[in-house]
Amino acid sequence: MHRITVIPGDGIGKEVMDAAMLVLEKFDLPFEFVWMEAGDEALKKYGKALPDETLEECLRSDAVLFGAAGETAADVIVRLRFELETFANIRPAKSYRGINCLYKDVDIVIVRENTECLYKGLEFEIADGVTEGIRVITKKGSERIAKFAFELAKKEGRKKVTALHKANVMKKTCGLFRDVCKKVALSYPEIEFNDYYIDAACMYLVMNPQRFDVIVTTNMFGDIVSDLAAGLVGGLGLAPSANIGEKHAIFEPVHGSAPDIAGKGIANPSAMILTVCMMLRHFNYTSEANRIEKALEETFVEGKTTPDLGGNLKTMEMAREVAKKI
Ligand code: NAI
Ligand code: MG
Repeated sequence: MHRITVIPGDGIGKEVMDAAMLVLEKFDLPFEFVWMEAGDEALKKYGKALPDETLEECLRSDAVLFGAAGETAADVIVRLRFELETFANIRPAKSYRGINCLYKDVDIVIVRENTECLYKGLEFEIADGVTEGIRVITKKGSERIAKFAFELAKKEGRKKVTALHKANVMKKTCGLFRDVCKKVALSYPEIEFNDYYIDAACMYLVMNPQRFDVIVTTNMFGDIVSDLAAGLVGGLGLAPSANIGEKHAIFEPVHGSAPDIAGKGIANPSAMILTVCMMLRHFNYTSEANRIEKALEETFVEGKTTPDLGGNLKTMEMAREVAKKI
């Protein structure tokens, strides 16, 4: 039995979680779901955006399935990633048939380091009108994420890993990251390795994304580049993610609580459904994940989608379409 903490959170987080659960219920899998609260509403109710019981349950469980938080996202999901030491953030960007997007043939997995870099929050005001931020890159952190990227490539039968950095300018921090990636690559002779400067890579991604397979990069570059990649294949409503550590894992769509559409029942459930697929693959339920993904793609092709994808279905109606096709 896998014990899963389910945190729907705020706004459309709840709506897409219900939709994904409806799809998941098509299978009889050994999951025990423990539903917990966190987010803006939890803050109002309990005075804490991430109540202690929720955090304790997350630490006890085998994985966390997270919807979205609102304004308290930093105190909830960013904190959870930190507390659960999920050092690898995996963000696939894949084009699906039936989706009107910039490229029809993109299949990239971005592996973003999740614990170091400028996002450590080491920011200071050192004088009036002068601020500084400290960028932390370690050999250990870089090695861990580089190995993770190559292992993922091996497991998924992917051919190439590309490291993104800016080592010509940030000679120490990015230099270390690049050198460690190069060294780790030597242990995986069957997988091609190359590296690009992050700025050039952004142009290549827009003009010729097919040249990428697995991307490995530092925290902030990974954050930016993964949104760029999501934009190539149809945007936030379709972008799933996983945060993986040695002991814990958190699965969450990339999008937030979308207050502009929350409560209307029109949120696109695809990102959350694809997030569930990532969770299933994590527990080696690969064929179940593949069946859900295929059913979702058929639903796209038939145009039975929510308004953001050009259809006129509600969130739960689209989920029922997917479930029906499984
Ligand atoms: P957002 O992702 O919530 O929304 C951005 C835009 O994309 C909105 O126009 C929204 O309607 C649309 N959108 C997002 N997901 C969609 C879906 N599944 N179906 C259809 N349309 C979708 O980001 P935004 O507006 O920057 O932030 C809103 C709130 O969410 C803020 O309070 C922010 O702090 C929080 N947030 C939470 C995150 C998390 O919990 N991981 C991540 C990003 C933002
Ligand atoms: Mg981001």
